[in-house]
Amino acid sequence: MSQKTLAGTLAVLAAGTVFAAVQPATADRSGRDDQAPIIVGHRGASAYRPEHTLLSYEAAIKMGADYIEPDLVSTKDHVLVARHENEISQTTDVESHPEFAARRTTKTIDGAAVTGWFTEDFTLAELRTLRAEERIPDLRPDNTAFDGLAQIPTFEEVVALAKKKGVGVYPETKHPTYFDSIGLSLEEPLVGTLRRFGWDSSRAPVFIQSFETGNLKQLRSATRAPIAQLINATGAPYDLVAAGDPRTYGDLVTPEGLREIARYADGVGVATQRIVPTGPDGRLLAPTTLIRDAHRRGLLVHTWTIRNENSQLPVDYRLGNPAGPAYPRATGDVMGWLERLFDLGVDGVFADDPGLARATRERVLDGH
Ligand code: G3P
Ligand code: CA
Repeated sequence: MSQKTLAGTLAVLAAGTVFAAVQPATADRSGRDDQAPIIVGHRGASAYRPEHTLLSYEAAIKMGADYIEPDLVSTKDHVLVARHENEISQTTDVESHPEFAARRTTKTIDGAAVTGWFTEDFTLAELRTLRAEERIPDLRPDNTAFDGLAQIPTFEEVVALAKKKGVGVYPETKHPTYFDSIGLSLEEPLVGTLRRFGWDSSRAPVFIQSFETGNLKQLRSATRAPIAQLINATGAPYDLVAAGDPRTYGDLVTPEGLREIARYADGVGVATQRIVPTGPDGRLLAPTTLIRDAHRRGLLVHTWTIRNENSQLPVDYRLGNPAGPAYPRATGDVMGWLERLFDLGVDGVFADDPGLARATRERVLDGH
């Protein structure tokens, strides 16, 4: 977030819309224990539709997601759009547009060389000429039936859809330090959009998330909308790496680290391995104390990513014959895995199949 415009965002906040869908666990922690864990449609319903399209978000809402999750990057004309990364060759048909062939280039993003086409080199109007495609067609071949049908949506469109349908949004800033460095900060348009929709109060059906730390601390001063600090299974926040700060994600989930996070965030969004680690054979080990430690500091705990396919599940929850050719993409015991996480006390799950997550939550709440 640029310092100049950060000051401009410090304003009297509009009253937020009270989220009245299914009484999931929001960042209002009064009575948290009585609230159901939230179901976040990860990139929409990405098990069934090309990710980050209105088709995917609409499917997630129909399946019962409480929140839909847009990852956010910027266009050249500073419009936030929903993509998992700013390089778009994996999720669009940009490679088949000869008029954009010359824009293929190599950049350094968060310290790594990346080659392809980048959202920040396209105006929104240009991006709108592209069509979304399934990222992992080998694993999700049925989703290719929707290739070519959807455009890249703006954040504004995603929020409008969520509000119209009565669900929340869980936006993630992708590569915030990088976008700051090219003059296309993500935070100001993010806060501006939420404010226009009246969704910047502490009770708004929103969680703003980031794998970096600095931009979330700045956002705490710019909006009262709930914030979640993402914690990866390994590594360190890029902004800390860039600043020469030796702290890792592991340091962030120590009691001291969680106390620091609680100063600016309402929750943590953690890789499942931070809750139930896996051993060298891929099997689950004993749970950590993270959920208890975070709750003690008033932080909600959301976890990601719950996927149906055997190849995406812990070894313990895979089903079928490993020698069969369809085994990697066959649906494993994802409901068993979800039930385990709910039983451990998570406050929310990011699921590629929000329908199964919702069904499992209802069953667990019913005591079956
Ligand atoms: O934001 C939570 C989860 O989505 C993080 O993983 O890589 O899918 O953004 P990713
Ligand atoms: Ca995400």
